[in-house]
Amino acid sequence: MNDAPIGIFDSGVGGLTVARAVSQQLPRESILYIGDTARSPYGPKLIADVRKYSLEVLDTLVEQGVKMLVIACNTASAAMLRDARERYDVPVVEVIGPAVRTAMSTTRNGRIGVIGTVGTIGSRAYQDMLEVNERLTVFAEACPRFVEFVEAGVTDSPEVLATAEQYLAPLRHAGVDTLVLGCTHYPFLEGAISYVMGPDVSLVSSDSETAKDVFRQLVSRDLLASPDAVPTARYEATGSSADDFVRLAHRLMGREVREVQLVQTG
Ligand code: SIN
Repeated sequence: MNDAPIGIFDSGVGGLTVARAVSQQLPRESILYIGDTARSPYGPKLIADVRKYSLEVLDTLVEQGVKMLVIACNTASAAMLRDARERYDVPVVEVIGPAVRTAMSTTRNGRIGVIGTVGTIGSRAYQDMLEVNERLTVFAEACPRFVEFVEAGVTDSPEVLATAEQYLAPLRHAGVDTLVLGCTHYPFLEGAISYVMGPDVSLVSSDSETAKDVFRQLVSRDLLASPDAVPTARYEATGSSADDFVRLAHRLMGREVREVQLVQTG
């Protein structure tokens, strides 16, 4: 069991940021990644549909024998974390809790911004977790076009900057000192977001914080890969073109994704 892969899932390429952080912090671990590209983006979809699609993908990962599930998609985490924890015997890690904890310990003035998809912001998952602390004031904005830009491989064009200026203006005016990137696609836009928000605003992204949670869970459950384990990385996508996924992954992350297998879920 210990040498089984960690199953990581996202609607598309965004979760690759989490997969990369897990591999950096846990280089002996094998990864099995599924991007549900056939049904991406999840952000504008009904919560009931996101829940159904996500459970289908997670079932496919469990059928392939993963030792842990990582929901590397904020919209899916907001829609079905509880269902997933009830449904599977393997531990389930998600992206919202780790980012919330980091934002709480990062802010100095108690004013925290959260950006995400329409689904994530509408679910109030971040707002409810943060507002448990009465000292905090939370400002949330949906940024639906950001996922479209990333899935098109565009991260630094004038249009990205103009869109970022428009979406982020209310958060700048609100004086937030910490901004949670509440979508696993957004770390690819960190340059533009940081440029618009300015150097005094700390950006919190779920990728490295989630990888720390994966680390903690593996250690506490005695699930770390054995010392002589030879790590593997397998990438799967549900869409119609493996080449498109590989091309986009190369553009955004360099050459680490070499091959993608097409799979069907559900
Ligand atoms: C999406 O599929 O719309 C974005 C994924 C996320 O919320 O992290």
